Amino acid sequence: MQIIRTVSELRRWSREQRASGKIIGLVPTMGALHAGHASLIRAAHKECNAVAVSIFVNPTQFGPNEDFSRYPRTFDADCALAEKEGAEVIFAPGVEEIYPAGAATFVEVEGLSDRLDGASRPGHFRGVATVVAKLLIAADPDRAYFGQKDAAQVAVLRRMVADLRLGTEIVVCPIVRDTDGLALSSRNVYLSTAERQQALVLSRSIRTVESLYAQGERNSAKLLAAVKEVFSTEPEIRIDYIEIVDWATLLPVETAMPGTLFAVAAVVGSTRLIDNTVLR
Ligand code: PAF
Repeated sequence: MQIIRTVSELRRWSREQRASGKIIGLVPTMGALHAGHASLIRAAHKECNAVAVSIFVNPTQFGPNEDFSRYPRTFDADCALAEKEGAEVIFAPGVEEIYPAGAATFVEVEGLSDRLDGASRPGHFRGVATVVAKLLIAADPDRAYFGQKDAAQVAVLRRMVADLRLGTEIVVCPIVRDTDGLALSSRNVYLSTAERQQALVLSRSIRTVESLYAQGERNSAKLLAAVKEVFSTEPEIRIDYIEIVDWATLLPVETAMPGTLFAVAAVVGSTRLIDNTVLR
């Protein structure tokens, strides 16, 4: 497996792969890889024959009081996992490679960037859209792989790729959960044992909505009321948002239907967690 540090080398690698007829897959990550990321790399390896994994803790998607400096960095273990799952290249640039001195160009996906996570993390999706645009322009992949866990991010990136006609297919892979139901996240390492127990309320709320929906409940207000009741069992947890929205626009819907997104974000101790389900 090759480790690439510069955009020009990544571009050269991509052009060589394309010239030899290969299908290029990119898995953008911030490292601290876990089984959720492994599933993305595996999917890419199955559908593409040249797979790059980017590892870049992107400063512009963190707010001033967020966890940029303490975000877990596990580069050697990440490389081992990526190689095991079939990655050919790790793209691990420094900050100045992605944001050259004086960089003044950002990507703003209007209307979507300030919904859900964007509402409580101002500037977050501007940072995500900017870095992913840079990665897609440099690697020019046929397909890029993202987890459904970041459902609002997926909506922002789908819109961006369509608007900029980047020509990359966005592939969304299912949420990977631990045996107790907690959705895998690089931030789960911040949770104490007690907080981890409390955090299970997020996946309980997902199961509640799925089961009420399966029983025929379509009224968003009623579904949200049931979720609030589930959260009332864990009063120490601060709900950031609980929303039932159209997955493309991230706008609330009164009536849930197939494809509707139920998404939740909550702060457990000092850790902000998200989870969601797409109703079927
Ligand atoms: O989902 C993530 O890990 C990040 O937001 C991404 C897409 C790699 C951009 O930094």
